[in-house]
Amino acid sequence: MSGQLSPIDRAKFAAARRAVDFVEDGMCVGLGTGSTAAWMVRCLGEMVREEGLRITGVPTSSRTAALARQIGIPLSTLEDVKWLDLTIDGADEFDANLTLIKGGGGALLQEKIVAAASDQMIVITDVAKEVTTLGAFPLPVEVIPFGWQTTRALIEETLTGLDVMGHAVSLRMNGQEPFYTDEGNLILDLALRSIGNPRQLSLVLNQIPGVVENGLFIDICDVVIIGHGDGRVEVRDMGAGTVEQDQIDFAEGENIFRNALD
Ligand code: A5P
Repeated sequence: MSGQLSPIDRAKFAAARRAVDFVEDGMCVGLGTGSTAAWMVRCLGEMVREEGLRITGVPTSSRTAALARQIGIPLSTLEDVKWLDLTIDGADEFDANLTLIKGGGGALLQEKIVAAASDQMIVITDVAKEVTTLGAFPLPVEVIPFGWQTTRALIEETLTGLDVMGHAVSLRMNGQEPFYTDEGNLILDLALRSIGNPRQLSLVLNQIPGVVENGLFIDICDVVIIGHGDGRVEVRDMGAGTVEQDQIDFAEGENIFRNALD
């Protein structure tokens, strides 16, 4: 069954499967958004059903909430739990400092709030997302709809004075319509190509009127788990300063693959 998955999906599954080893009984867990996080939700769902794992999930998007509900993970909200033990989420890019670009799926705002409210954030990713310099992936910025063209113009003007290579800003679309986030906002994608100073860029962007949040995650992620298509995983823990290699057995995921591919 795992043979029906693409190498990239096998890599994403491997990272997700290793990440759920960090989840302990009774934990409150932030559930990320995206295709890699979906594998993690499916793995957790199996642990809840088959092993009696008791957790409370806090989803970072309506999409993840729907998947978790379908799979049988008990859910709560950040309003109710207020603080989480752990968040596991994907990323669009990460660098050696574990600074991330997120928001390719449009859920960056809830993802950042939930991750920031967690004792630990683990990022699960395939190896292709590791970069020396962030910015090849367009940086998503969530803006409120009111006066968004003015916000875009202010962002473009601001970018000319910053250490970035590209300045093109585009409104994210969903077919013919603008893409709206779960919070009813818009996303501007910034094609920066190279971000010389992520910390400065993040601070400056968030000061522009109309900007709600940007997709740079700085000093939030503690651990990255990098999956490979052959089941190898690397666990890099920034806090502990350790790097561990492991191997995932795809045979353990057969039920999950069957349900996901149905
Ligand atoms: C969702 O808004 C994003 O932050 C995702 O975490 C990111 O886009 C990674 O998605 P994939 O796991 O689908 O690549």
